[in-house]
Amino acid sequence: MENTHLQQDLPAQNGSNYDIEKELKAFDESKAGVKGLVDAGIQKLPPFFVVPENEVSSIAASKLSATHVQIPVIDLKDIHDDLIRREKIIEEIRSASETWGFFQVVNHGVSKEIMDGMIEGVKGFHEEKHEVKKEFYTRDVKKKVTYTSNTLIHKTKAADWKDTLYFRMAPDSPDPEELPVVCRETTIKYSAHIRELGDTLLKLVSEALGLDPNYLIEFGCTKGLKLMCHYYPACPEPNRTLGSKPHTDPDFLTILMQDHNGGLQVFHENKWIGVPPIPGAFVINVGDLLQLISNGKFKSAEHRVLANHIGPRISVASFFAIYDRVCGPIKELLSDDNPPLYKEVPLMEYITQYMWKKEDGGMSTLDRFRL
Ligand code: OGA
Ligand code: NI
Repeated sequence: MENTHLQQDLPAQNGSNYDIEKELKAFDESKAGVKGLVDAGIQKLPPFFVVPENEVSSIAASKLSATHVQIPVIDLKDIHDDLIRREKIIEEIRSASETWGFFQVVNHGVSKEIMDGMIEGVKGFHEEKHEVKKEFYTRDVKKKVTYTSNTLIHKTKAADWKDTLYFRMAPDSPDPEELPVVCRETTIKYSAHIRELGDTLLKLVSEALGLDPNYLIEFGCTKGLKLMCHYYPACPEPNRTLGSKPHTDPDFLTILMQDHNGGLQVFHENKWIGVPPIPGAFVINVGDLLQLISNGKFKSAEHRVLANHIGPRISVASFFAIYDRVCGPIKELLSDDNPPLYKEVPLMEYITQYMWKKEDGGMSTLDRFRL
């Protein structure tokens, strides 16, 4: 692992004998994740979790500013039976996707049992004995089921205060036996419901772009589905690190389920705005690939998760994406007044850059493909 860039951005260590690469390697080799550190009783953050001070102060500032504006909440009730309601919902999705890139949905048809079951299953896995979890710990990106702390540590400046259980559910889902026993059934059920909801949402999003309802499904947007099941342990020094650093999602659309703890924020009009947990709701956000094919009409907004004294916080992010093609702005959406903003992008190249290219001064991966 190459981590020389990590050193520059961290506060100097007393005595300065601290070898960050060695510490990170030891952390990774422990296969016990952030939860392992918490279980061991650490009271101070290991330096590789500490974010630069300016980011810490922006955390403090955002905690002070009470949020007057909130991301839209869209009620999907009667979506399949009431055409007038449907039109209204499409309009709400269009507006939310243009201005925020984020919204929440309620009455989406996925039951509380399925949602709670998934949260419990994910919690169950992360709270399994080390012997069980370590068998899944790997950075092999070809595997369909993995457990890792900090999947993108090689590209970021500091580690996130979270551990992640990952499933690639489509195309070609794992054999049930490959899933951890404690969350096997719940994950299979949950992902079937998420695929259905994904279809429903992508039809609405197609219409919100003025396209045929099946356009984005036929395009392949729902062919690939990955679940990232995060566990954010309670943090002894929450003002010195982040649960998830600011990022945009590398997919078409994300369906996020968060538990009651909160901490998710969206960057909107130069401020971090909290996304309050609503029982039974999903948070939906536009990813980079939808921003690309909609020619920038729909926004892939930056978001992050604060660390917290309280925890664990559990969330499940479901990513709809496929990288087996080249795509650019959808031709039907372009005109003399709306010329293409992006090149034709080989999505494999995009995702490779997203995963491996080091952070550089605010330029997002998608920005690099602008015309
Ligand atoms: C993600 C993400 C937010 C959360 O997985 O990309 O932004 O609340 N997760 O865990
Ligand atoms: Ni995200």
